[in-house]
Amino acid sequence: MSLLELRDITAGYGKNIILKDLNLNAEKGELVSLLGSSGCGKTTTLRLIAGFSEPVSGSFYFNGQDYTHIPLHKRNFGFVFQSYALFPHMNIYDNVAFGLRQRKIPEAEIRKEVTSMLRTVDLEGFEKRLPKEMSGGQRQRVALARAMVIKPDLMLFDEPLSNLDAKLRVKMRVEIRKLQQKLGFTAIYVTHDQEECFAISDKVAIMNHGVIEQMDTPAKIYSHPETEFIARFVGFENFLKLTRLGEGLFQTEHGAELRVSNDTLPGQSMKACIRPDDIVISGEEGLPNAIRGRVTVQTFLGKRMQYNVSTELGEFVVNADDEKVFSVGDSIVLSLTPNKIVLIP
Ligand SMILES: Nc1ncnc2c1ncn2[C@@H]1O[C@H](COP(=O)(O)OP(=O)(O)O)[C@@H](O)[C@H]1O
Ligand SMILES: [Mg+2]
Repeated sequence: MSLLELRDITAGYGKNIILKDLNLNAEKGELVSLLGSSGCGKTTTLRLIAGFSEPVSGSFYFNGQDYTHIPLHKRNFGFVFQSYALFPHMNIYDNVAFGLRQRKIPEAEIRKEVTSMLRTVDLEGFEKRLPKEMSGGQRQRVALARAMVIKPDLMLFDEPLSNLDAKLRVKMRVEIRKLQQKLGFTAIYVTHDQEECFAISDKVAIMNHGVIEQMDTPAKIYSHPETEFIARFVGFENFLKLTRLGEGLFQTEHGAELRVSNDTLPGQSMKACIRPDDIVISGEEGLPNAIRGRVTVQTFLGKRMQYNVSTELGEFVVNADDEKVFSVGDSIVLSLTPNKIVLIP
């Protein structure tokens, strides 16, 4: 049994059902991310785990116990939210000490724990400051310290970095991951940022309209998306409907033949997913899966050029280096690299 298990959870607000038969597992010591666009139900899931709300049906098991109806204050969980929610009138020391005082820990022990935690988040010497005298990144580290000082059984993060600027976000996500590995806590981390999520997670659960569409390691999701929604999330932009002709050989809906190296999916009908980076622009038709086309849009991406290419199989989005630049109207030949094509049902 996993440390955390949500089983067939249905939940929402009044009659408005948001989560439908949702299942989620996390093992001890793992950082599991919930990734999805705004409104898909990430915060609703986290609130349920935290104990702010109860499901309509389904159950939540933690450490082998039924937690579904255990009240919030009996769950030893730590939270870090998007708005840091520090107490503005309390100094940093008192903010971090808050959870320990609520638990009636002796002051001498509190001093030891708070000092050690402030050292861990690199904020020694800031004890007497007020939150408003700290930068956004420092305040978020205080929020982390305050959540972790109670030695929670589980840490819950809800878009903790979304109020920080881009550079600090990258720095802080590495710090959170380092702390998580050093202290060994289990965490559920909610974000809508694909890069952030893939960078720090052991496992990623991608949510779509209140269900988890795929849950796996970042590497597995990146290379083996199971649905078009997931594939789009991880950078596939070209999709072709296929019918099987034979082993590794398919026909597109426009009648063209397509060779696919990794033909492991059973069935007769499926879809090919191809990233813009995995299409080669060549001058001749000798390469496999060659398609003639005409450039309709040229976009400068910085390191790469991107082209929209109109072909008889539809429009393709293709990235290429800037060694040879094509203009709108140019005739080119695309080659869909057979071992880069991913098949989905
Ligand atoms: N307190 C609430 N009362 C009613 N509906 C809510 C409430 N909070 C969120 N919702 C609705 O639930 C859905 C999921 O919201 P939420 O879990 O906050 O999404 P996310 O965190 O993924 O952006 C949204 O359609 C939202 O409008
Ligand atoms: Mg949210």
